[in-house]
Amino acid sequence: MYSTLLIIHSLTRWLVLAFLVYSICSAFVGYTRDKRFSKADNAFRHWTATVSHIQLMIGIILYTQSPIVNYFWAKTESGLHQLELTFYGLIHMVLMLLSVVLITIGSALAKRRLTDREKFKTMFVWFSIAFIIILIAIPWPFSPLSSRPNFRMF
Ligand code: HEM
Repeated sequence: MYSTLLIIHSLTRWLVLAFLVYSICSAFVGYTRDKRFSKADNAFRHWTATVSHIQLMIGIILYTQSPIVNYFWAKTESGLHQLELTFYGLIHMVLMLLSVVLITIGSALAKRRLTDREKFKTMFVWFSIAFIIILIAIPWPFSPLSSRPNFRMF
């Protein structure tokens, strides 16, 4: 179960990133060119939040199964001195939780804005901040915090 979850969590990251990139770009274009907030724009707003919620759920389950996280909480004092353990025990979890909260708030606020321009602006600002936090918190192969492969195969 643990290794399957890790593979799914790793793959879903690309889905989260793809939805965010598309939504941020279309919100930017929509705002700067004064476009109409179409049904497709609204669907992307909704699905970006939904995909991030799915990743959040997988992350929470993975968190309870991970031997790294379990070791961190069993030996917190020594764990705090090892970056890899602190990363998955605290940093990754807190930053990703924060980013999903920002996406959720941004999506909800954009839905309630009265003008199309305000909808695009709200989506652009909140999703962009979340995107930057996610980029920092992902364990890229080149990350100094923790290095993991871009793709994990079954
Ligand atoms: C947008 C949200 C998130 C993204 C994009 C994301 C992305 C990733 C990636 C790329 C990995 C490395 C997978 C690998 O080793 O191949 C990972 C590992 C992990 N993530 Fe997330 N994550 C997110 C949210 C969360 C949340 C909210 C939690 C916990 C509440 C979480 C818990 C974990 C754990 C425990 C591991 C690794 C555990 C281990 O190696 O034993 N993630 N995440």
